[in-house]
Amino acid sequence: MSRALPRSIAAVSGAILAFGIAVAPAAAQTDYPRKNITLIVPFAAGGPTDVISRIVSDHMSRTLGQQIIIENIVGAGGTTATTRAMRAAPDGYTLETGHMGTHAAAVALYPNLAYKPDVDFEPISLIAGTPVLILARKDFPAKDLKEFVAYLKTNVDKLNMAHAGVGSVSFTSCLLLNSILQVKPTSIPYQGTGPAMNALVAGQVDYMCDQIVNAVPQILGGTIKAYAVGTAQRNPSLPDLPTTKEAGLPEFEVSAWNALFAPKGTPKPIIDKLADALDKALDDENTRKRLLELGSDLPDKAGRGPGPLAAKVKSEIARWTPIIKAAGPTN
Ligand code: MLT
Repeated sequence: MSRALPRSIAAVSGAILAFGIAVAPAAAQTDYPRKNITLIVPFAAGGPTDVISRIVSDHMSRTLGQQIIIENIVGAGGTTATTRAMRAAPDGYTLETGHMGTHAAAVALYPNLAYKPDVDFEPISLIAGTPVLILARKDFPAKDLKEFVAYLKTNVDKLNMAHAGVGSVSFTSCLLLNSILQVKPTSIPYQGTGPAMNALVAGQVDYMCDQIVNAVPQILGGTIKAYAVGTAQRNPSLPDLPTTKEAGLPEFEVSAWNALFAPKGTPKPIIDKLADALDKALDDENTRKRLLELGSDLPDKAGRGPGPLAAKVKSEIARWTPIIKAAGPTN
């Protein structure tokens, strides 16, 4: 015997089913987040991206009422993790902290990059600007930037430079430095500048270009040398450190940035909720203090949210592509 439903009932059930499918994602968006969120950090624990991510996610977890769990995925200068983040489900439960390297410089450094930073992600917001410093081991034989430059030019065959892989801020910044000075040191990659900094402190490597967040404690503790900061103004956390312009190398102007991204297609209400939680973190006195003490440069209200980050990614790809091409082969 046929068990077919009368046509009118079938039509109503079809409509309910269709309505159910249509409203399910919307309901999931309004009660977001219902479980822990994974925040992918594309470098080793203890480095600048990790430290910044932990500071802001701590406050964001409280605002969102769910824990943000950091997952460090290393490799290929941050591009392995960024590819993973790009392929994650666009449901707000996998995010990434990207930066000037992963979401700008990598475009020119990897001709076959699996993702397009300005197309394959939903920008959430800038977290912090992170000026880049020229650093060396504690006993490096140069007392200021002029001597450092002269020493590098005459001894480069004996020197090595630490970085966090092709695609990282440290690699890209020193690529610019080495290209200005026309030197090619031995290049030593680490899985992040957390471990690279340990090698610099131990005197196993000679120099590095790193984000300020990773260097302030070591500079203040006297375990490494800092020659200059690549920004137009001195940094309040290191007021005695000259700018590269003051120290005689104005061509080296680099300030990196870290930002929050979600996979393309993550619904707007979720992006807005995350941007709002980050905004609250950046307004929180204790969170601000922790980031500012490490030398970060915090975006003002107008510089936060998806719009300014989308513009930043585009302008940074445009800035770094010709610099990297002019520097020539990266190996
Ligand atoms: C890190 O967290 O290790 C850095 O952001 C690496 C870099 O880009 O230099």
